[in-house]
Amino acid sequence: MSNERQQERSEVLQSLRWENDALSLLDQRLLPEETIYLRLSTPREVWEAIRELKVRGAPAIGIAAAYGVVLGAREHSGTQDSWLPEVIRHAEYLATSRPTAVNLFWALDRMKAKAKTLSDTGTPTSEAVQALLDEARLIQAEDESTNRLIGEHALALFEDGMGVLTHCNAGGLATAKYGTALAPFYLALEQGIHLKVFADETRPVLQGARLTAFELQQAGVDVTLICDNMAGHVMSKGWIQAVIVGTDRVAANGDVANKIGTYSVAVLAKAHNIPFYVACPLSTIDLSTPTGADIPIEERHSDEVTFGFGKRTAPQGVAVYNPAFDITPNELVTAIITEKGIIRAPYNDNLKQLFDR
Ligand code: MRU
Repeated sequence: MSNERQQERSEVLQSLRWENDALSLLDQRLLPEETIYLRLSTPREVWEAIRELKVRGAPAIGIAAAYGVVLGAREHSGTQDSWLPEVIRHAEYLATSRPTAVNLFWALDRMKAKAKTLSDTGTPTSEAVQALLDEARLIQAEDESTNRLIGEHALALFEDGMGVLTHCNAGGLATAKYGTALAPFYLALEQGIHLKVFADETRPVLQGARLTAFELQQAGVDVTLICDNMAGHVMSKGWIQAVIVGTDRVAANGDVANKIGTYSVAVLAKAHNIPFYVACPLSTIDLSTPTGADIPIEERHSDEVTFGFGKRTAPQGVAVYNPAFDITPNELVTAIITEKGIIRAPYNDNLKQLFDR
């Protein structure tokens, strides 16, 4: 096995932050080659950034959309009467950017509810815009602390020396900080626990190669990149003792939507008797969606498949099917790790109880 591991350690890049009255957002399409922060100052720019995967990962797109609402609310701060309808219009527009990750709708609902309270209490629009900004900042800060808790719960499932496979990027870049599935790796590093991480490259957009391998390597985590079709091979060699992934939406019955290829990894894990863990905040669990079959699956442009590596990799005009996510049925999920603890089957009951607690 070749090892091109970089030994220098540095902080994981922050995916987004409010800075100088605008949203400063790391353009993740350019990683790992270029680190460029974009300055977004309109809801439309935020919508495009989400749609084009400049920002991606369920919690991060929710946070970005929350700041998008602030930008929209600011545009209408001179009009007390139409302020609330305009804020709601911007939120509904931002909700059309991507369909699968429920954190987007969760964050927008929270911003709309806050705007409604502010409007109902007759708060002057200039103050209301500031209060919406505070709410977006709070969503971001809560995501960071939530992810740390998820990391602590997840780390309790791992032992020193274990090999752990992950798919896509559910790391600091996909969230406010730490990530969900990658959080235990950062905490393990802090505590001197050695985990050997295998990162699937995650075709077609290569979030595993461009983002997970990048952020873990930068932090000094022991990470080995593999192509997606190598996962079964490394499992058969006995190198993987657990799989952990993030998710874009968990249905009420525990079915899990995550990056395309996750389902195949779960089937492989089952075949090799390896536990398959899903890490997510409560904001990713959608009790109003009964099963995985009810989760809308985004289909993306065929170019992602036919121009995958910056050049044509398939014949012109070939039919392409490019779903961005798949559904892992709950029977393949060993446990769901949240900020409130570790949830196991039966998921219908246990997920509901989580919200009742
Ligand atoms: O298309 P993407 O890159 O937004 O997909 C991201 C994923 O599937 C992540 O695994 C998921 O959002 C969890 S992020 C903590």
